[in-house]
Amino acid sequence: MQNIDFHIHATRLLWDELDDSQKELLSIAKDMTDNSYSPYSHFRVGAAVRLANGQIVSGSNQENAAYPSGLCAERTTLFAANANYPDQAVKALAIACYTNGHFTPYPGSPCGSCRQVMIETEHRYNTPMQILLYGDEYIYLFDNAQDLLPLSFLSEDLSGEKKP
Ligand code: THU
Repeated sequence: MQNIDFHIHATRLLWDELDDSQKELLSIAKDMTDNSYSPYSHFRVGAAVRLANGQIVSGSNQENAAYPSGLCAERTTLFAANANYPDQAVKALAIACYTNGHFTPYPGSPCGSCRQVMIETEHRYNTPMQILLYGDEYIYLFDNAQDLLPLSFLSEDLSGEKKP
């Protein structure tokens, strides 16, 4: 038997420690919570991505009376970016969550399906995607999507021969 530890790395930052481009992207993600359509959960999520050409694309979670038909803010935003700018790598993604009348004090945590889509995008463009998770008290910064999903499933896995 062998114990194997998978390590991920994150940086915890205060708002004042962010650079201007990080503040800009997080501010847009925060603003986008206003556009959330979340009449069922009342959990408003905003997201924004910065593309390689500098373009910013933003989005929010979109719910549905048929609950599984809704989509998270991260995937709404990444799919919109990839659909409209298919030749542009996604360099950074920021998210913010608002519920009970305020932004969450601690960083919002992307769901597993969104992490899977982030990984696909990162690999598609072979470019690390910085992830910024907003909390009123502090922000988490991940240098790439891979850190949010160790042992992830990628296109190479479809061969059935990939060593994990
Ligand atoms: N949600 C997101 O938009 N992103 C996440 O990473 C987690 C959850 C949304 C989905 C749903 O509309 C609401 O938050 C509650 O789960």
